[in-house]
Amino acid sequence: MTSFRPAPRWLADAVFYQIYPQSFADSNGDGIGDFDGIAERLDHLAWLGVNTVWLNPCFVSPFRDAGYDVSDYLNVAPRYGSNDDLAKLVDEARTHGIRVLLDLVAGHTSDQHPWFTASANDPADDRYIWAAEGPDGSRPDGFVDSPGARPGAYLPNFFAFQPALNFGYAQENPAEPWRQPIGAEGPRANRAALRAVMDHWLGLGLSGFRVDMAASLVKDDPDKTETARIWTELRHWLDDTHPDAVLLSEWGEPEVSVPAGFHTDFFLQFGGPTDGRALRSLWSNTEGTVNESWDPLDCFFDPSGKGTPGLFVDAWQQASAAVADSGFVSLPTANHDFSRLNCGPRTAEQLPAAFAFQLTWPTLPAIYYGDEIGMRYVPGLPDKEGSVLGPRYNRAGSRTPMQWDDGPNAGFSTAPADRLYLPLDPAPDRPTVAAQRADETSLLHFVRRLIALRTATPELGSGGSVEVLHAGYPFVYVRGGRYLVVVNPRRNAVSYAYGIAAEPRPLEVSGVHVDGGTLTAEGFAYGIFDLGR
Ligand code: NOJ
Ligand code: CA
Repeated sequence: MTSFRPAPRWLADAVFYQIYPQSFADSNGDGIGDFDGIAERLDHLAWLGVNTVWLNPCFVSPFRDAGYDVSDYLNVAPRYGSNDDLAKLVDEARTHGIRVLLDLVAGHTSDQHPWFTASANDPADDRYIWAAEGPDGSRPDGFVDSPGARPGAYLPNFFAFQPALNFGYAQENPAEPWRQPIGAEGPRANRAALRAVMDHWLGLGLSGFRVDMAASLVKDDPDKTETARIWTELRHWLDDTHPDAVLLSEWGEPEVSVPAGFHTDFFLQFGGPTDGRALRSLWSNTEGTVNESWDPLDCFFDPSGKGTPGLFVDAWQQASAAVADSGFVSLPTANHDFSRLNCGPRTAEQLPAAFAFQLTWPTLPAIYYGDEIGMRYVPGLPDKEGSVLGPRYNRAGSRTPMQWDDGPNAGFSTAPADRLYLPLDPAPDRPTVAAQRADETSLLHFVRRLIALRTATPELGSGGSVEVLHAGYPFVYVRGGRYLVVVNPRRNAVSYAYGIAAEPRPLEVSGVHVDGGTLTAEGFAYGIFDLGR
């Protein structure tokens, strides 16, 4: 394995918090969240105890995919503020003990990016992947007709308006001359461009990047060897030039991405066959009902208890053994692409157990904005900036405005309600930060206490050992040889035979009883105990 500089020390203690900038806090009343709005809410993040924020793309963009269609990597979109406002936010965050990561959309640009418009008008340009028109006017499968004077067609990476940057192909084929090797001029220019983009933002005080579709760079690369080679090269460059910065991949296969050079990778629903399953494997359809057919495997957090944490535990152990000391695996509560934890009837009742699990697991936990108060996946919203990916897959429901208080627009914005980026959750009992801060029994206070406990207890953090005692219901494990965690995410009570010599000291317990040799966990119960050894 190639040796990298060890990850910066701060990363082992990172508790990530993802901000979808459109929806977090609007400072100027135009209905869209912005940097100054985030800056005004840093107190909330510091109080909660998170220490590393990652922002979805906030660069100049036509916003057909919510900013994942970048048309200028070096300037922020005016709707969020200026580059100076971002730099100011980063400085203020630092005074709150919070680092900020940006989103690096490495695999594609917008079709409005000047690199692409130049390429679409210059047959000699190979920053993108171009196929000539066939003799019968045809184009290869998956390619999209050129919008410019250049004849032929280009390869998109996600939506048609997101042309793939050319990082080359792992396999060449003389019949398909657009398959360039990764050492060709276009791929080299694109790698240099990625370095220039990273250098620009790291120089402004940013602490690294979440990398979009990190596995997508080299085409026809089934085992990802060539894509990995590119990230290895970039990591060496980063180690030399910005040793305190980190790369966090949207890849979903830490076994591959971390050895390639990422400091950490998300354990996502769409990674390996069992990744992320513990939190929620089922995606929501436009009606907000869970799409059972999307993923036929049972989910650990299925409230009826038909799942098993065994799938997750096996996948986790495999990934963490492969990653070993070279990096970390990050477990998100949700993100802007899939449904929030609270996405169906009675899922709210599971949230404390979900957080008790996530925040005592040897991961770098990532909290999606609003999950700390149990914000709901809001069903049935219209498409907003490419949020609807199909009749059964609407991402808007996870992107609604943050609910701060019971003022107008829940404190998100002073704009008229019909001017908001997305409507608020219309539920009359929607949770808010203000109400939960005033209530020490709230989910928000619980999440805060869990983060504080984790921060104060190295055994519960990313580096402590984990011994799984029962990969069933209840899910039972011991951290650092000393802290017992019991989680029952289903609605029925369960018990588990476990002989504990002395009465364990309860740290955070709800509905878990220790009696003689038996642990009993009521429905949706959790318990964290100090075994004192
Ligand atoms: C993954 C991002 O998370 C998603 O929101 C986006 O639509 C695609 N990549 C394309 O960039
Ligand atoms: Ca605004």
